[in-house]
Amino acid sequence: MSTLGVSFADTALESRVLAGVDAVESQLTAAVDSSSPFVAEAAAHLLNAGGKRFRPLLVMLSAEFGDPSRAEVARAAVVVELTHLATLYHDDVMDEAPLRRGAPSANSRWDNSVAILVGDYLFAQASDLVSDLGTDAVRIQARTFSRLVQGQIRETIGPDADEDALAHYLSVVADKTGSLIATSARFGAMMAGAPEDVQVTLTEFGERIGAAFQLADDIIDVASETGDSGKTPGTDLREGVPTLPTLIALRSTDPADARLRSLLSKPLTDDDEHAEALTLLRAHPAMTEARAYVQAEADAASVLLAKLPDSPARSALQELCDTVVTRLG
Ligand code: IPE
Ligand code: IPE
Ligand code: MG
Ligand code: MG
Repeated sequence: MSTLGVSFADTALESRVLAGVDAVESQLTAAVDSSSPFVAEAAAHLLNAGGKRFRPLLVMLSAEFGDPSRAEVARAAVVVELTHLATLYHDDVMDEAPLRRGAPSANSRWDNSVAILVGDYLFAQASDLVSDLGTDAVRIQARTFSRLVQGQIRETIGPDADEDALAHYLSVVADKTGSLIATSARFGAMMAGAPEDVQVTLTEFGERIGAAFQLADDIIDVASETGDSGKTPGTDLREGVPTLPTLIALRSTDPADARLRSLLSKPLTDDDEHAEALTLLRAHPAMTEARAYVQAEADAASVLLAKLPDSPARSALQELCDTVVTRLG
């Protein structure tokens, strides 16, 4: 499994988290099973392909601010990862993405209908499990999912006529990605019985680090080589989905950027134009500016951590902030 490379200075914390990861993995395996061999295979496909398990890790670290041994903690981690997994099946249909977690996406291995329906199956399994966590958790999960889906819809339809494109993009990022990462932190703290103020701080932290995580992912889509991310680089450009580096580049009024601006104004289905846009964008100062923006978001997340009691878990969350930025390499 690829990880975010968070190391744990505290060995007791490390062994608790590793035990938690094991429990979550076996519950995930059970949750994607089905009496239909085809559904079982298709639902296990992306789970087994890999993934960083960022959201479960955040659940477990947030649970350290209460009693992390409660069974509800691992259950909540399974719920958020299943929800995330379901959105990946759907997202790859929307983005016509051929690769995910280093494996063929479900839509390319089977077809769009299979990918959509298996995503729905995974949402249903997540809903089943969250019902064991109480009415509050069910409501939070429903509202999170509602925000996430609306973010995906607003990305698809683009900004309103009077809406600034960058402001639209940032609010889409908050909704489609920040929402579930915020809920991961919130669920961890809540299920562990952490104090109310700690739950609030961790939710804000998750929202902030979640946005930074998506912004970083969008930069990686431009900067990475095939294979590094387990996805196909340049997918956003090909689909004409505006992201932080392209929106910054589009603001340039420099005549030298005219060719790049013209390429970025539409989906890039032509291979040569796509390659040309990627080369121009990679060399453009917008990339440095975008990285600085992610650094500032990660810094804002880490400032929130000062409100939490000093502990090995807080240090690990601090390291998570650093890793989101360093993975920009
Ligand atoms: C991918 O999420 C989609 C985004 C929100 C950027 P991850 O980067 O967490 O994907 P996996 O789970 O590691 O595959
Ligand atoms: C993914 O957004 C967000 C959700 C799945 C909710 P992207 O489309 O940017 O993510 P990748 O790059 O395909 O992982
Ligand atoms: Mg995508
Ligand atoms: Mg997408």
